[in-house]
Amino acid sequence: MAVRRARLDIESYVRLTELADYIVPFALRVICDIGLADHLVDGPRPVDELAEATGTHAPSLHRALRALACRGIFTETEPGTFALTPLAEPLRADHPFSVQECFPLMPPDVMSWGRMDHSLRTGEPAFEALHGTGYYDYFTAPERAEDARRFELSSESVNPFVLRTVLPAYDWGSMATLVDVGGGYGTFATGLLERHPHMSATILDQPHIAEVAKEKVAAGPVADRCTVTGGDFFESVPAGAEGYLLKTVLHDWDDERAGQILRAVRAAMAPESRLVVVESLREDGDDADDVGKVMDVKAMVLFGGHARTQEEFDALFAAAGLRRSRVVATPTMTVLEARAV
Ligand SMILES: C[S@@+](CC[C@H](N)C(=O)[O-])C[C@H]1O[C@@H](n2cnc3c(N)ncnc32)[C@H](O)[C@@H]1O
Repeated sequence: MAVRRARLDIESYVRLTELADYIVPFALRVICDIGLADHLVDGPRPVDELAEATGTHAPSLHRALRALACRGIFTETEPGTFALTPLAEPLRADHPFSVQECFPLMPPDVMSWGRMDHSLRTGEPAFEALHGTGYYDYFTAPERAEDARRFELSSESVNPFVLRTVLPAYDWGSMATLVDVGGGYGTFATGLLERHPHMSATILDQPHIAEVAKEKVAAGPVADRCTVTGGDFFESVPAGAEGYLLKTVLHDWDDERAGQILRAVRAAMAPESRLVVVESLREDGDDADDVGKVMDVKAMVLFGGHARTQEEFDALFAAAGLRRSRVVATPTMTVLEARAV
């Protein structure tokens, strides 16, 4: 029998070892946690100064920074002195699209990724198998408030960028009142209200998230047009608004739980109300830009949900008494609009 020899392709080998390594993500995480990039906004600085400013051990910080620099994140301008690069700029807290909070690598998540094999073998979220409870229930415990905060900030850290792409793609201003269902700390809803002065919004989220959201909204520029309420979107949603938004919520849940959310929204909708879903859709084929497929794996391991195709959304809507009325692709997420049947 002929033996098929493995193809020797050095470029692919190198690329694969870069994609598979976990060193860069962990090094990046700690560099974000110590706010390193914020200390380079005025130009290059010696590592000793950076270590002093961040409360770190200078030789170790040097080792981490030079490893990142060889991947284009920071540059060593002269021995022991580092500067920002285009790849390092978004690590600044003051960057308009800052990713400083984006990938928190919290221990309960990291442990779950270490047991991803459980998800592959059983189809169940590794998170629940390890921690004995679902993702969002786990973080309601008061002693986990800091991780709950980090999760929320990470979910919403992409919102400035998403707002930039999603707002021009849909006529948000045609709705005077909006309920943002599972709206978190409200970065999306308040960003929307800032651009549409005649709109008002209610943000619904879990009570412990809503408490923080209230403070954040109260301190912002649209406090007089935005209310925050704590509740459970599986149970009920504030009634009678012109629009209901579900942004990056449904992919966290399997069809049964997602159907419950949609039915609660449907029950709250007036005949002329509309539902707007903003998510990364999953599409057929090997498209390198398909964020939906990558988010789908996160949903599998952590949440027990999944990213959906447009057809899967249509079926989910139909089962909840809704029908899709529009779909708009944007450079980031897709906007799906649905109305009551
Ligand atoms: C992935 S985050 C999305 C946040 C926000 N929509 C956004 O895109 O920025 C999912 C949100 O659902 C909220 N959530 C989870 N379970 C909930 C429940 N039973 N009732 C209300 N909100 C819930 C979480 O607290 C979280 O804010």
